[in-house]
Amino acid sequence: MTREHEENRGHFSSFLWVLVLSCAGCGGPEAGEPPLASTAQALVGDSLAGLTSTQRALFDAGRAAFLEVESVADGLGPVFNEKACGNCHSVGAVGGSGVQFEKRAGRLTGTTFDSLSNEGGQLFDLFSVMTLPAGERTTIPSCTLPPNGEPVPADANVIALRRTTALFGLGLVDATPDATFIALAAAQTAAIRGRAPLVPNIAAGHATVGKFGWKDQVPTLFQFSGDAYLNEMGITNPEFPSEQVPEGKSSFLTTCDGAPVEPGDVEDDGDDVEAFTNFMTLLAPPPAPNITGMAHSGSTLFSQCGCDGCHVRSLVSGPSSIAALANQTYQPFSNFLVHDMGSLADNIPGNGDVGRNEIRTAPLWGLHLVAPTDLLHDGRATSVQDAILRHDGQAAAARAAFQALPPGNKNNLLAFLAAL
Ligand code: HEC
Ligand code: HEC
Repeated sequence: MTREHEENRGHFSSFLWVLVLSCAGCGGPEAGEPPLASTAQALVGDSLAGLTSTQRALFDAGRAAFLEVESVADGLGPVFNEKACGNCHSVGAVGGSGVQFEKRAGRLTGTTFDSLSNEGGQLFDLFSVMTLPAGERTTIPSCTLPPNGEPVPADANVIALRRTTALFGLGLVDATPDATFIALAAAQTAAIRGRAPLVPNIAAGHATVGKFGWKDQVPTLFQFSGDAYLNEMGITNPEFPSEQVPEGKSSFLTTCDGAPVEPGDVEDDGDDVEAFTNFMTLLAPPPAPNITGMAHSGSTLFSQCGCDGCHVRSLVSGPSSIAALANQTYQPFSNFLVHDMGSLADNIPGNGDVGRNEIRTAPLWGLHLVAPTDLLHDGRATSVQDAILRHDGQAAAARAAFQALPPGNKNNLLAFLAAL
């Protein structure tokens, strides 16, 4: 979603001075306010257990904003991928994974990657305002954008798709200190050592550890909210104030922006970005799995094959003003580090120094909720077994260990993954 790192660096430097609300303002415990009575475990798509009533209200309002369908009058477009966050993040429950894929492209010459920003890259949006009913675009009579968004230019020789990921439990990851991820990398054996990349953190004004997105390109849920609002829907906001330029042609900004704002102003004053952040911060992780029988044997094999060298079972969050997020042990089955995955590479560099071959360890919590035919970052795997067999690079040894298992043991390992 991050349009491209050069552009982000631009935002990074010009916004050092902007005071932005972070999730510190998203519902710390009010003095004397008891947590709501909660069942031990939240259901898929529900808020974290043990929130105060104020926090629960912020979750509900954030969820409504996440589901809100945007229009030209709200700033939708000129190009966009969808009209609501919840239109993509929808599988299993609101906030889940999705069947939509984003399209990125660029030109690779030797080892130099050109994101083709003068032609609208590296993210090529799938739709333009011209796909909307005529009655919704009366203010842009001379817009000539193709309805199907931005065409991939003929000089692109790398095209990569990225699947919509699930957001369940990511507030816990946001609340986990950078030092935890740096220590996880240091503790890995050299053959599988991943990296906790440093990426621009606009609100902090300096680079911090990237935790979110397939390439760890974004450091916080707050920043992802603003980034997604711009890049998925074309809605400018305080941290991402510049409209995407369709096909790199600024004339489209004058002819195809149906609700222009004053120079220096933005389409969302930051309220929506904060609401999305609240929803995602307070969204519960998938329920803890019930591991018995075949899955129990499979759990042992998961360790024996070295899967949990990267798909780390358990992490602990740090301090948080939200009690339900503070010092919590959670089971993401990921270290959130980027790894060199060899032939699984998408060939597109990430933010900071993330390379073309590096991809973040996919969290396996809630794996059963992801469409089994859409696995891996670009959906190239058509079953869980296929996803394992396509592991390469630093994960080649674990794949070989899986391949060497007798069929019964393979089935046990697959039963374990199906239970997550
Ligand atoms: C067109 C479908 C689509 C829409 C609309 C969309 N997303 Fe996403 N979302 C994606 C895809 C695809 C990814 C993976 C992107 C990547 O890593 O490059 C993603 C990833 C994310 C992540 C990172 C999750 C992780 O696993 O680290 C967050 C957070 C997120 N989206 C929030 C939002 C918010 C907030 C909105 C609304 C402003 C939104 N998304 C709208 C498709 C969508
Ligand atoms: C060196 C680190 C590493 C090791 C070891 C590893 N994986 Fe992965 N795994 C990853 C990365 C990175 C991805 C995401 C790759 C992509 O999407 O292209 C991933 C993706 C997956 C997925 C797909 C998830 C999804 O949402 O699409 C499954 C399933 C999986 N791994 C299972 C396993 C199993 C089982 C093992 C052990 C046999 C294993 N992995 C070993 C790093 C690793």
